[in-house]
Amino acid sequence: MTSLDNQARAILRKNDRGGYTVPTAGLYPYQWNWDSAFAAWGFATFDLPRAWQELETLMAAQWEDGMVPHIIFHKSDPGYFPGPEVWDTSQSPATSGISQPPVAATLTRLIWEEDQAFGRARLEALYPRLVNWHRWWHEMRCGHGPVAITHPWESGRDNCPDWDIGMAGVDGSQVGEYTRRDTGHVDPSMRPSKAEYDRYIAMVQFGVKVGWDQARIVADGPFLMADPGITFILLRAHEDLAVLGRALGQDVSEIEGWALALRNALPLIWNADLGSYDAKDLRSGRFAGVLGSGAFLAYLAGAGNPELDAQLMRVWNAVGFGIPSADPEAAIFDPRRYWRGPAWPVVNALMAIGLRDAGRGDLEARLRAETAALIERHGFYEYFDPTDGTPCGGHDFTWTAAIWLTWAGRNLEQAKGAA
Ligand code: DGY
Repeated sequence: MTSLDNQARAILRKNDRGGYTVPTAGLYPYQWNWDSAFAAWGFATFDLPRAWQELETLMAAQWEDGMVPHIIFHKSDPGYFPGPEVWDTSQSPATSGISQPPVAATLTRLIWEEDQAFGRARLEALYPRLVNWHRWWHEMRCGHGPVAITHPWESGRDNCPDWDIGMAGVDGSQVGEYTRRDTGHVDPSMRPSKAEYDRYIAMVQFGVKVGWDQARIVADGPFLMADPGITFILLRAHEDLAVLGRALGQDVSEIEGWALALRNALPLIWNADLGSYDAKDLRSGRFAGVLGSGAFLAYLAGAGNPELDAQLMRVWNAVGFGIPSADPEAAIFDPRRYWRGPAWPVVNALMAIGLRDAGRGDLEARLRAETAALIERHGFYEYFDPTDGTPCGGHDFTWTAAIWLTWAGRNLEQAKGAA
């Protein structure tokens, strides 16, 4: 075990708040949905019971309608805005009112494959909750075919350029005074802008106004866009959930139906003019016209094609350090601002799973080497400038530590020796 392995384990332990893991101290002091699923995967490399526990605390916050919220506010923390009183969802424990990329079933499958001897009872308890969550996605977010998001935060890729056309229609002028906390923790030039934040808060206020009635938010809310990123993540997760169901002897035909419907909807998010999958404003029917990392998650769902391959190589070769979150040759590219350019180790890890499954071991090895080099040189940062590797955002980050243990740093010396 290398000293980086030790550091990664120490980060997971340090960010453990007793059954759930915060993404990083200070900036994100609660349990976040997809961060937590990655934490579970990381724990699975050295503490399988703790891995299952992470998934259990996440799924325990499920709403009655099946939604698993994007933040669970276990203990109040004044260092974060917008906190539980702003979301005002009347849940116990308090939660936000939107969801986040459903990577949990895919990562549960990977954990289960490591723990078939002892994990069965825990998988049996989690499985119905995962099925209910996937049914919620199908019923509440897939009415237009691909997955719709009702808030950019639901995508996990908060301020990526994909959402700009939808955000333009949101009125952020009436939100009133508030104090952001994120910019007190990290360099403001690496975070979303004030104009974006005003709109984020306006969308939360709309949810509160309609009592978090999801059907009304979809029908009348200020923002509704098709997200290629979640579409591919959910499609993959449906297929992984079906594998888990079969292992438990369950009838998975309903899940197979959701997966088929979603796969059949993929042509609706293919923008032929752009030569890529693309986000779409579902209020106006217009494509975003933006190439970003959401499109490249197609590999995770086995939905790559030669045109997308060419785009991938173009944007990847234009930078040196992992796959950028936005097109480096587009005017909106901002290499250190959160999802408007930086490379994210965690997204690289998801793409790597897809590239490997597609038989592109060469690309997977390159992505892994670049991701590992960023972490070896700079540590476990949230994201990195893909042009020069500068570390950005929060540090001692849970999911970066997790993907080091599970993928980027796993048997690294062996991999380097073989290269
Ligand atoms: C934040 O606070 O920036 C989060 O990404 C919202 O989920």
